[in-house]
Amino acid sequence: NQSNTVNESALPIPPMLKDTNPNPNKAEFHITAQNATKEFISGTKTETMGYNGDYLGPVIRVRRGEEVSVQVENKLKDEMTTIHWHGLEVDGDADGGPHSGIQPGESWTPEFTIEQPAATLWYHPHPERKTGKQVYKGLAGLLFIEDEVSDQLEIPRDYGVNDVPLIIQDKRFNKDGSFEYDLGMHDIMNGLQGNTLLVNGAIAPYLEVPKGMMRLRILNGSNASVYELGFDNNQTFYQIASDGGFFEKPIKMNELKLGPSERAEILVDFSEYNNGDVIQMSNQGVKFLKFSVSVNGASVKQFTIPEKLNPIEKINPEDAVRTRKFVFQGMGPRVNINGKQMDINRIDEQVNLNTTEIWEVSNESGMGMMGGTVHPFHAHGVQFQIIDRDGNPPPLNETGWKDTFLVSPGEKVRAIATFNHSGVFMYHCHILEHEDAGMMGQFQVE
Ligand code: C2O
Ligand code: CU
Ligand code: CU
Repeated sequence: NQSNTVNESALPIPPMLKDTNPNPNKAEFHITAQNATKEFISGTKTETMGYNGDYLGPVIRVRRGEEVSVQVENKLKDEMTTIHWHGLEVDGDADGGPHSGIQPGESWTPEFTIEQPAATLWYHPHPERKTGKQVYKGLAGLLFIEDEVSDQLEIPRDYGVNDVPLIIQDKRFNKDGSFEYDLGMHDIMNGLQGNTLLVNGAIAPYLEVPKGMMRLRILNGSNASVYELGFDNNQTFYQIASDGGFFEKPIKMNELKLGPSERAEILVDFSEYNNGDVIQMSNQGVKFLKFSVSVNGASVKQFTIPEKLNPIEKINPEDAVRTRKFVFQGMGPRVNINGKQMDINRIDEQVNLNTTEIWEVSNESGMGMMGGTVHPFHAHGVQFQIIDRDGNPPPLNETGWKDTFLVSPGEKVRAIATFNHSGVFMYHCHILEHEDAGMMGQFQVE
């Protein structure tokens, strides 16, 4: 009995979703959540969920200033869903949190205006207690915001050629190819961590890259795992953007730590390689994505690493009207924030519209004997700037806009944001099994 084999496959590139509104200042998109099956491992079938396809979803690309409407249809069998625009600054009624349930057979059409700078965001379901399972089965996609800055920077922007998204996720496959969402004790404690990495839904794929500069838009789309990404030959790269957009200037590195839901755009220069050279991306030294350099197709536009990207106006801590404290506590089924688990009928925090606040997030869960768990903090509807970590300035690649940040056991992170959108929003741990267990609360801006 031969064991199942993984065929080496080309990296799938998610399709760019067509805007069906002819008006240049408006955009209209259609998305359908559906059940499907997919062959990840040849000869096996995996039950999945996807948006407009069998796994993951298309890229929705919008522009700053544009009025957007998205018709979201739920064709899932007997299952409620929602669709949340992670990182998008919109009012609560368009945000797609657990209050915006879409019943099977129904649809939901939020409308919003894009008011924030160019960034790589993402969208995923957010139904109460079911987010982990639906994301794990495949419901997730990217949302690109473009603006004058992203148009004019001398960086690669040829989608699928030298501007390529990488959605990295980990799965556990059963012998028959299924990845059932059965949570064992370890998953309840730490969130579901897999043993097989997928990139854009493919196991150990390869990508032919031009002998030149590549822009990779990376999303950690995993339920719970933190990645330490790099290249097998220690190739240097430059991070140019974090969750909410570009840095002031590129940051040189050879290892990138990325928690669940965090994004990073990086530039990698392949111009010094020869035709046929293979460079691999790795997580903690384990290779999972091959880049094979190709001079076919000849004339690629050559780029250098830009000196400057986009100025970021620092939010002044003195403008903050208050400091609000969030404490991650508890373990396993008892994970909570400030001693409370999610109650959809309770508003936990009231924020005044158009004010600036410092949010101080600390992690006091599972300390001592158990070693503790890192929890990624996320809040809806805003982008933060990180002030400090335990009183020290954050690492360089946390000096831009952030909507999700890791908080280690015993650590205290201070972040600042201005709350310009009204409505009810969530804040939570982005380990989806913790979120589903109740490590989430609600804040109302008005
Ligand atoms: Cu990425 Cu509340 O979500
Ligand atoms: Cu979110
Ligand atoms: Cu957590």
